[in-house]
Amino acid sequence: MIDYDFDSVIERRNTNSIKWDYTDKFFSVKDILPMWVADMDFKSPRPVIEAVSEVAHRGIFGYSGIPQSYCDSIIGWMKRRHKWEIKQEWLAYSPGVVPALHVLVNAFTEPGDQVILQTPVYYPFFHAVTCGNREILDNPLRLEGGQYVMDLEDLERKIGPRTKMIIICNPHNPISRIWKEDELRKLGEICMKNKILVISDEIHQDIVYPGFKHVPFAALSEQFADNSITCTAASKTFNLPGLQTSNIIIPNPALRSRFTERARAYGVPSPNMFGVAATEAAYRHGEAWLTKLLEYLEGNISFLAGFLSRNMPGVKLIQPQGTYLMWLDFRDCGVSPNRLANFIRDDARVGLEPGKIFGCKDDGFERMNIACPRSILEEGLNRIAQAIKTRQAD
Ligand SMILES: Cc1ncc(COP(=O)(O)O)c(C=O)c1O
Repeated sequence: MIDYDFDSVIERRNTNSIKWDYTDKFFSVKDILPMWVADMDFKSPRPVIEAVSEVAHRGIFGYSGIPQSYCDSIIGWMKRRHKWEIKQEWLAYSPGVVPALHVLVNAFTEPGDQVILQTPVYYPFFHAVTCGNREILDNPLRLEGGQYVMDLEDLERKIGPRTKMIIICNPHNPISRIWKEDELRKLGEICMKNKILVISDEIHQDIVYPGFKHVPFAALSEQFADNSITCTAASKTFNLPGLQTSNIIIPNPALRSRFTERARAYGVPSPNMFGVAATEAAYRHGEAWLTKLLEYLEGNISFLAGFLSRNMPGVKLIQPQGTYLMWLDFRDCGVSPNRLANFIRDDARVGLEPGKIFGCKDDGFERMNIACPRSILEEGLNRIAQAIKTRQAD
């Protein structure tokens, strides 16, 4: 039996969930409705739960490896879903995309080198660059006509002799853009010309809304494949991030051996046997569930958009093209932008993530995770709308 119930509220408090049980650590308050860190309040597809249960029931949790069937499932997924034919030898394991980014920065740049980031962006990118004394070269995205675009002129102007790497985010968290082929091609050409290695974080590749198509950067040409490393996982798509399993795709053999050698030096462990089983089951048997998930998320987006226009016309949704992370512009809602983050936390009692932490230059933006039952989404929106009304009445 396949379970497509996304409406049921599953109690996640007291389950050792970062999102629900550790808000005091991240927001300094306990009693807020958490709509922040990027995991979903939905159960994974039944075949995934069964595969993980099977491993659990064996009762022996020794070191594990990467079976052939696991590689085949990834190769099949990339081909079916993204029209990208990858070869088995291109695959490298990492316990997560973030750990892989740390290894990649260490492996392919030197202290003092610059790594380009396109802000606002997933904030662990910042630490991956700076913790080994590399510099961030900020190439901010531009908000143009209600949507974000890459500023490639700014990029070309800023590139210097120490600029060695760019980390792109495709689909882009938190502004939920799916980069188009021509945007990626232009970016890729600039990087080729300037010998800049492209790291493409494609962890959100499967959460794509109608009218948009995820284009793997490396699938665009052999040269791009040769000059790039793609970070993927089944974790966002099927809600497996606690199982610490990601797949780093490296077509260029020299880059690949440098990555694996450096990962070993970092002490990257043997794979998590639960993560391997879950990923394979998801890629083999999760497609129907994903179709239903995407429909449900689209429903949540329509609900969110309708709610905003009816009850909070001063809050604008940047139209999402992918991901379940919504980027909201609160600048016209009547709350002073520089006090917005505290207002959302203390007055509305909702756990959103402020734009500033993603490197957004303007105050007044917040990221909202809508991968939750609609009733939770409604509760979060009601809390914010009520707090704005009370503030306006003061
Ligand atoms: C763009 C991006 N990359 C990486 C991650 C985390 O990856 P992992 O849990 O595999 O380290 C996230 C999680 O939200 C993300 O949004």
